[in-house]
Amino acid sequence: MNETIADPISARSLRLKAATHDIHDVLDKRVMNADVFGSRDRFAGFVRAQYRFHRDIDMLYGSAVVAALIPELAERRRLPKIADDLSDLGKQLPTAAPGRLDTDTPLPVALGWLYVAEGSNLGGAVLFKLAREKLGLDRDFGARHLAAHSEGAARHWRQFTAALDAVQLTPAQEDEVVLGAEDAFRAVRSYVEEELPVSGGRMDGDVP
Ligand code: HEM
Repeated sequence: MNETIADPISARSLRLKAATHDIHDVLDKRVMNADVFGSRDRFAGFVRAQYRFHRDIDMLYGSAVVAALIPELAERRRLPKIADDLSDLGKQLPTAAPGRLDTDTPLPVALGWLYVAEGSNLGGAVLFKLAREKLGLDRDFGARHLAAHSEGAARHWRQFTAALDAVQLTPAQEDEVVLGAEDAFRAVRSYVEEELPVSGGRMDGDVP
């Protein structure tokens, strides 16, 4: 027996994936059921929700503490691309509001939120393809923020998770990362509810 084989669930990124599986699944379905690829107008509602989420975390990309841990942090920032997408789509930015996170946000919480932002790039590849095929958008117009990194979305993601997994944290801080990720998903969910209302209220299988 080889005792050096790592428990596959021991990596922080995999634990985060497992912990947020259900909430991601509900969000996925909620976004797709909102018919975001039915028209550019519907898609713009999704982009506005993205804008509000990325505004919440925007301060993190200027953090020296986070930058020391996560490679190419500044490049990972997507708020300006989302703003350009909204402008391409002929839409206003959402009303100005402060982001939910700031320079005082504890590092574990920041890592949880960044996990959600970076992970959404993976699903973004699926969304990018649909935006191109159904709405004629691309990396230079309307769907910039969903376009894969030049090195490939999967490679960029693996660099992120390797860095995330390497951060030394206490057990209490581990819990804070998960809470941060859950809060991030809840925030996205609330923005989607507001920007893409669906008639008839809650859907079957919905999680409050
Ligand atoms: C803004 C909303 C969304 C957020 C915040 C989000 C978040 C995430 C996160 C954190 C991951 C990484 C999971 C991991 O640890 O591997 C992920 C992966 C994924 N997401 Fe989403 N997601 C969103 C919307 C969607 C939508 C609407 C779809 C619908 C197609 C989707 C499809 C996927 C897929 C297919 C993956 C896995 C990709 C892979 O493993 O190669 N996501 N998403």
